[in-house]
Amino acid sequence: MQWVGRPPLVAAVAEAGALGFLTALTQPTPDDLAKEIARTHELTGKPFGVNLTILPSINPPPYAEYRDVIIDSGVRIVETAGFNPADHLPAFRAAGIKVLHKCTSVRHAVKAQRLSVDGVGIDGFECAGHPGEDDIPGLVLIPAAADKITVPMLASGGFGDARGLVAALALGADGINMGTRFLCTAESPVHQRVKQRIVEASERDTDLIFRPLRNTARVASNSVSRNVVGILDDGGTFDDVRALVAGAQGRRVFEEGDLELGIWTAGLVQGIITDIPTVAELVRRIVAEAEELITGRLTAITGP
Ligand SMILES: Cc1cc2nc3c(=O)[nH]c(=O)nc-3n(C[C@H](O)[C@H](O)[C@H](O)COP(=O)(O)O)c2cc1C
Repeated sequence: MQWVGRPPLVAAVAEAGALGFLTALTQPTPDDLAKEIARTHELTGKPFGVNLTILPSINPPPYAEYRDVIIDSGVRIVETAGFNPADHLPAFRAAGIKVLHKCTSVRHAVKAQRLSVDGVGIDGFECAGHPGEDDIPGLVLIPAAADKITVPMLASGGFGDARGLVAALALGADGINMGTRFLCTAESPVHQRVKQRIVEASERDTDLIFRPLRNTARVASNSVSRNVVGILDDGGTFDDVRALVAGAQGRRVFEEGDLELGIWTAGLVQGIITDIPTVAELVRRIVAEAEELITGRLTAITGP
């Protein structure tokens, strides 16, 4: 999670027995990422990963240098996302690093599996951030992927509680990936007003920006996102919205808590998020309630 996947949150997730990911590109340079990884190692002795998001860009960041920093840092698991990770796989593989590739369609998951990634994450239309252009919600996307995927698979997009975890397992996933839910925890390094807004927001309070540009992103609905949707729907170009969607403005939302300063990312799952727990409490609760759900409600339905 850009601006959010930072040491305190990632270490808290690791300590809770889950797997958290630093976001490589939150750091302005590969050297800064090396320091960020070292800081996380100081906070936890448990495993954590790094996300490398590969996006089309006129001036791409030095991906290979970020990759080499990850390899040299002692991190054992990487999540790639966005474009095809093929260029980076040989180096990760040579270093014995496990690669999980996150994608938004069955065909891309199959392609990643063919490239011998160690696992895939599959983001349904519900997800925060980039859901792709196919608009297939998890209820169909996850079992459709499960029919084709033999490596471990994480369901992603719209998961926030035990009900989602149990459903994902039933649909054929091996686990879940959560973004918005971890964004709204005590250790998440964003302003309290952002967390409060997620608690108050309903499942209807997101917008899909960049649809006409075929680079859709699901973001929290605010005056800026609605303006961007309007400009592009009226035939505007990226240049017409460039200033409105600047990442620096989204970062200021998280740091300053003024929710109308820019674009910030959140998913539909905010409609079922009602509190701001610690990460430890969240993970404990999801696991305990999932066990209760399986041995209680589901067992009662199916009989002994
Ligand atoms: C604030 C925020 C920032 C995100 N930034 C990234 C990113 O930089 N790279 C990425 O692959 N996914 C990013 N995501 C998407 C998440 O990794 C994850 O796929 C998504 O949140 C899952 O949907 P959910 O929010 O319904 O759990 C971001 C999500 C949020 C909420």
